[in-house]
Amino acid sequence: MALITKKIKGTEDVLPKESYKWQFTEQIMRDESRKFGFKEIRTPVFEHTELFARGVGQTTDVVQKEMYTFDTKGGESVTLRPEGTAGAARAVLEHALENEGLPVKASYFVSCYRYEKPQAGRLREFHQFGIEEYGTSAPVADAEIICLAQSIIDRLGLSDINLEINSIGCPTCRAEYHKALREYFEGYKSELCDTCNSRLNKNPMRILDCKSPICSQIAKDAPKITDYLCNECKEHFDAVKSCLDAAGIKYTVNPTIVRGLDYYTKTVFEFVTDCIGAQGTVCGGGRYDGLIEELGGKHMPSLGFAMGMERLLMVMDKQGIEIPDFDECALYVATMGEKAKLKAFEITGAVRSCGMIAETDVIGRGLRAQMKYADKIGAKYSMVLGDNELEQGYANIKNMSTGKLTKVNLDRRFTAEFIEMHTDDENSGVFLCR
Ligand code: HAM
Repeated sequence: MALITKKIKGTEDVLPKESYKWQFTEQIMRDESRKFGFKEIRTPVFEHTELFARGVGQTTDVVQKEMYTFDTKGGESVTLRPEGTAGAARAVLEHALENEGLPVKASYFVSCYRYEKPQAGRLREFHQFGIEEYGTSAPVADAEIICLAQSIIDRLGLSDINLEINSIGCPTCRAEYHKALREYFEGYKSELCDTCNSRLNKNPMRILDCKSPICSQIAKDAPKITDYLCNECKEHFDAVKSCLDAAGIKYTVNPTIVRGLDYYTKTVFEFVTDCIGAQGTVCGGGRYDGLIEELGGKHMPSLGFAMGMERLLMVMDKQGIEIPDFDECALYVATMGEKAKLKAFEITGAVRSCGMIAETDVIGRGLRAQMKYADKIGAKYSMVLGDNELEQGYANIKNMSTGKLTKVNLDRRFTAEFIEMHTDDENSGVFLCR
């Protein structure tokens, strides 16, 4: 029979045999961000469309071309989140978290949706780990979140990932810069794509991250924001660099980084690699001092970053980083007959109470097929229980890699304490190892 459908283009399934890699990566992100004082926030997968239109920016590729927007049956326009920052900011404002003390520090794991052209490392549904910090304008905060991103990358064991930083100034210095950009791009008006032509007046900086090859070629020689920074922005950027130097974080200043979202001010940064092809940015972030006001709150300078989970996992794969799989079956109990099934329930239950994985037959397979399954799942130990074993009052536990057999008395009741006592002890008739 043919399948009635397959997964949607640009989406991916994480299969049971792969999910330990995600869990390992997520755990490191949780641990590291916790050390920096971040606590998890969870927000809905969809929001009112205007949140992203205002927050992310009307002239961005994300809002103009990539959002999954639809009308609900009630006639409201809602959008699947294309990123995590706007939703987190909305939640912080709605719950007045600033009253609980500043800075507010939030971390999140989110699925995001962008209708982009799928390619390696670029999906229509993808996942981010991100952090946001609200209520500080101090450059040390910029450096601190960069240190957090770096420490996650280091703990994941990744190499050849370079940190690139830039400052894209504040509304004051940006006015001058926009003027220079307009003058430059006016000369190429007939070659720019329609979207970029419409951006020319409203927000010429967005032309710098247009994905059309012609526009990006023209953008290469455009004026650089770093030549237009006001004194305050320059000082802020210098202070961020000094903090990074003090923390021993290596970076390069790349004046072409402008980021694709409108809310950024001052510091922006990306962690990039060339080992996974064209989509090599594994983390992006920066300061967004005006976003909270834009969304209706008080002035609250803020900053954050997000990492692409799929891209990080691709790099880990490419670099052959070994990820421990703790999901190994400790004991497989093969059974023959009804009585044996009940005893197997008792034994597997006790093993599981000790925090280990135990399995027994739930399909009704014959003994050979059960042992084949035990092999397939990589069970460390196996045990065969049938009428014979129950009558004799003992069974053998087999170490599946050495073949060594250990006798176990079946007349007793198997409890967690008993299993615990016979575990991890190499010399006293051990039958289980964690
Ligand atoms: P972004 O650069 O758009 O920033 O996305 C962050 C990361 O998500 C990227 O560096 C990349 O690793 C991953 N990513 C983005 N688009 C895709 C895609 N189509 N497929 C796979 N991975 C993708 C933001 O989203 C900001 N909200 C980051 C931020 C947080 N800035 C401040 N706070």
